[in-house]
Amino acid sequence: MTHVETRAVQVKAPALNGSSPMAVPIYQTSTFACDDPDVCAGALRHPDRGYAYSRHANPTTRALEQTIADLEGSAACLAASSGMGAISAVLLGLLQSGDHVIAQSRLYGGTHGVLSDLARRFGIEVSRIVGTGTDELASVLRPRSRLLYLETIANPTTDIADLPTMLAASRAAGLVSVVDNTFATPVLCRPHEYGADVVIHSATKYLGGHDDVVAGIAAFADADLYRRVWQFGVNLGVVADPFASWLVLRGIKTLPLRVARHCENAGRLARLLAGHPQVTNVRWPGLADHPGHALASRILDGFGGVLCFDHIGGRAAAAEFVARLRQVVLAPSLGGPETLVLHPASSSHRELDANELRAAGIGEGTIRVSAGLEHFGDLQADFEQALAI
Ligand SMILES: Cc1ncc(COP(=O)(O)O)c(C=O)c1O
Repeated sequence: MTHVETRAVQVKAPALNGSSPMAVPIYQTSTFACDDPDVCAGALRHPDRGYAYSRHANPTTRALEQTIADLEGSAACLAASSGMGAISAVLLGLLQSGDHVIAQSRLYGGTHGVLSDLARRFGIEVSRIVGTGTDELASVLRPRSRLLYLETIANPTTDIADLPTMLAASRAAGLVSVVDNTFATPVLCRPHEYGADVVIHSATKYLGGHDDVVAGIAAFADADLYRRVWQFGVNLGVVADPFASWLVLRGIKTLPLRVARHCENAGRLARLLAGHPQVTNVRWPGLADHPGHALASRILDGFGGVLCFDHIGGRAAAAEFVARLRQVVLAPSLGGPETLVLHPASSSHRELDANELRAAGIGEGTIRVSAGLEHFGDLQADFEQALAI
């Protein structure tokens, strides 16, 4: 198989009469004129029988789905209107009232929120685990356990899920395993290789990569599971818009190059912060003292572009640090060209109460950093002046 750098740029556009466009065209159409009723019926009932209506399938979105399926090694893929759209389609499409979900305690706040909502409103029980041991999984298993939910690199604490161990145990217990691979991207990790049934992405982040699109991906190891969620996603109406799909396709061409630079800048920032007197608890999987460092070295092809740290002065000092940054911006996203910082307790994880925040590893002084593509010297100067007292 060719390498990820090569496959990322080889996105196939449909052939014309003797040539084909280098970029996939944007099929900005809601509906398609069908040659006969059978064509229309087939396209509305099956994800892979042509095109009739863009909530069911669209050629630009299909090109994105095939590109991600190729990069992740999936049987098929569903592009959604956001990462949360993909997560909701998978959870609501696969779970029923009374089912039991086993989820990592350190997850993106929105995912945490959906799971809590499912528990409150639909009687779907949720057990939280650290995500690094089979004993822990065995201790919470019940007859109605259906689904295991993990993040390859957790948001924002960068905990590493033990994918080989947990996914093997999940399969043995008959669970459907779902892994959010947003922070790692298929450049650093392909969770299907360790047995993940479903791989999730907020394509808003590294896949799109330019802070100009909101989109999501659910990728499936098994075509039947894909068809179930596709049918539910069609009814839920969380389909990706063709222009959004095109923007993500455009971003993917430079994904491996960008991810390498994000990882490099994150590593340099992590080492800078680790030696700073105003800073404690720097978490980036590439640091030797990170609890998941050995595991990350084994299952990832790089340590990711996100890090977090605690300001020793707590919430007020963290807020002052953010306000003093001149070049780096406070914004609730990650994976774009610009370095962004965020205060998770008041933003991405605002739905968590004090106990849940503690379990999620988030303190009042915790700052998440998404390392961008800038020259490191400029980042260093900005962080140093903002941390100086
Ligand atoms: C790990 C992770 N998963 C899912 C999401 C949700 O994605 P979106 O904002 O595209 O709905 C996010 C958003 O920050 C995220 O960080």
